[in-house]
Amino acid sequence: MFQHRLSEAAVIVAAQFDRVLAGLDDLPVTRAMAHATNGGKRLRGFLVLETARLHGIGPDRAVWPATGIEALHAYSLVHDDLPSMDNDDLRRGAPTVHVKWDEATAILAGDALQSLAFELVAHPEVGSSESRAELAFTLAQAAGARGMVLGQALDIAAETAERPLTLEQITALQQGKTGALITWSALAGPRMAAADPTPLAHYARALGLAFQIADDILDVEGDAATVGKATGKDAEAGKATFVSLMGLEGARRRAEELVQSACDSLDVYGKEAETLREAARFVVARRN
Ligand code: IPE
Ligand code: IPE
Ligand code: MG
Ligand code: MG
Ligand code: MG
Repeated sequence: MFQHRLSEAAVIVAAQFDRVLAGLDDLPVTRAMAHATNGGKRLRGFLVLETARLHGIGPDRAVWPATGIEALHAYSLVHDDLPSMDNDDLRRGAPTVHVKWDEATAILAGDALQSLAFELVAHPEVGSSESRAELAFTLAQAAGARGMVLGQALDIAAETAERPLTLEQITALQQGKTGALITWSALAGPRMAAADPTPLAHYARALGLAFQIADDILDVEGDAATVGKATGKDAEAGKATFVSLMGLEGARRRAEELVQSACDSLDVYGKEAETLREAARFVVARRN
C-alpha cells in the first residue's frame, strides 16, 4: 500500500506544480523552478497527504500543503547544491540548477520556491483561516534559523570543526537540516484537523533521523546512477554524520532502532496507520 500511496502522491504533487508554475512568465528563473521541482521521491508530500487522510482530510485540500512542502524542500536542495555549499553537479539524476543555468538563477529560483511554498500552504482551499495561519507559522519555524537553516549552518560549520561532533551534536544538526521539514510534513494532517499532534511528532522525530542516517549510508554505499546524486562526498568534505561517528554498522543499527520506535509511536492509530509504518521501513531500505 505504501508504494502505491507514494506513487499517487508523486502524481498529485507533479500535476499541482504543473498548474501552479504554468501561470508564471517564461524566464530562466521560472524554468529553473520547474526543473528543481521535477522528480524526487515526494516523501514529504506523501506524509502531508497520508497524515491528512488519517484525520479525514482529502487530497483536494491537502494537495496545497503537500506541494508547498515539496517546493520548500526543492529550494533547500537548490541552495544545498550551490558551489558555496555542497558544490554538487547532479541532483535527481539531472544537472543541478547552477550547472544548467548559473548561480544567480539558482539563488533566485530557490528564493522564489521558498516564497511559493508559503503561498501554497496558506492557499484559501486548504481550509479555515486558523489552519492556514498555523501551517504557515509552523513552516516558517521549521524552515528557518531554528530548523532547516540552523541544521545547514551546523552542517557547514562541522566541516571545519576542530573536534569531531558528539552524538548529541550530530543529532541536533540532523534534526534541523532534515528532521524539521519531515516533522512539519507529518504534522500537517493533525494541524489541518486541529487534532493532537503528539503521536505523529514522536513518529516524525524518529523517521527524520532514520531518513538522514540512510542518506548518509547511501553516500558511502550507493552509486550515483542509482542514487541520482554524487556519492562518496561526505567523508571527503569532512561532514559530521552518524556514519562518521559510529561507522556503517553502528549507523545501520541506530536507523533500525529508530524505525521500530517510529512504528511504536503510532499505536494509538491502530491499523489505520499501517501505511505510515511501511513508510518508516521504506526510509531505511531505500536505494535512492
Ligand atoms: C534529500 O532528500 C536531502 C535530504 C534531506 C537528505 P530526499 O532524499 O527526500 O530527496 P528527493 O526529494 O527524493 O530528491
Ligand atoms: C541536505 O542534506 C539537507 C537539505 C537540503 C536541507 P545533504 O547535503 O546530506 O543532502 P544531499 O545528500 O545533498 O541530498
Ligand atoms: Mg548538505
Ligand atoms: Mg548536499
Ligand atoms: Mg547527503
